[in-house]
Amino acid sequence: MSRNADELAALIRARAGDAPVRAGLVLGSGLGHLADAVDGVSIDYADLPGFPHAGVSGHNPKLVIGDLEGCRVAVFGGRAHYYESGRGDAMRLPLEVLSALGADTLFLTNAAGSMREDIPPGDLMLLSDHINFSGLNPLIGEPSDARFVPMKDAYDPAIRSAITQAAAAEGIDLKDGVYAWYSGPSFETPAEIRAIRTLGADAVGMSTVPEVILARFLGLRVAAVSTITNMAAGMSDEAISHDHTKAMAPLGAAKLEKILRRVLSAL
Ligand code: HPA
Repeated sequence: MSRNADELAALIRARAGDAPVRAGLVLGSGLGHLADAVDGVSIDYADLPGFPHAGVSGHNPKLVIGDLEGCRVAVFGGRAHYYESGRGDAMRLPLEVLSALGADTLFLTNAAGSMREDIPPGDLMLLSDHINFSGLNPLIGEPSDARFVPMKDAYDPAIRSAITQAAAAEGIDLKDGVYAWYSGPSFETPAEIRAIRTLGADAVGMSTVPEVILARFLGLRVAAVSTITNMAAGMSDEAISHDHTKAMAPLGAAKLEKILRRVLSAL
């Protein structure tokens, strides 16, 4: 753990209280307002040296520490993407801070394009695994042997099962699938989509995978859910754009909030 992460954790505790955080929640494009569901202390990323800057529209660059369904959480209203800086480890410091605050569990959310006709826009997809189509890795340059992170069951089977049960209890259709990380910021070509579909991916997006690798490196248990905002390039006549992503993400956000509340109340 870097000294900086411990210092930032101390700064956060001084503002939000000493009680250890149980779980972290990273909000994806168009999902940033979920941070407002938490009754707690809000700290702008700008007040946390090393945290992502203004970032991408549709994100909400603040950290909220507080209670959600009786569980003390740290909600990251926005993330840093590889495509903003060229740094695969852009989320390392925030995740180190989460770990320093005491968390052992991380929920990641994102907006994604679907390659499955039975997971249409507006639906959610629970990640069962991923394909790192970017070829990048946030641990390149990490000197310790801890860099050789095993990635089998990176998406924690017990939390996945809790999420599946919570969705069923809420009457929400939740399929699981494999997420492919594509670096962005340009969207994929139809040929790339055909290629990753053939390789076994069900959804595609520009985030999450480096965070999963970093979180496993830090010993956090991980679960991730995509909110499907569009069919991937070439799969429908609808034009793909960031505006469309931001407009569609809230369709999944309401369902996601219900599922998360149930899972957190039982954590
Ligand atoms: N591709 C990559 N990222 C995305 C997409 C997509 O189709 N939709 C939302 N985020």
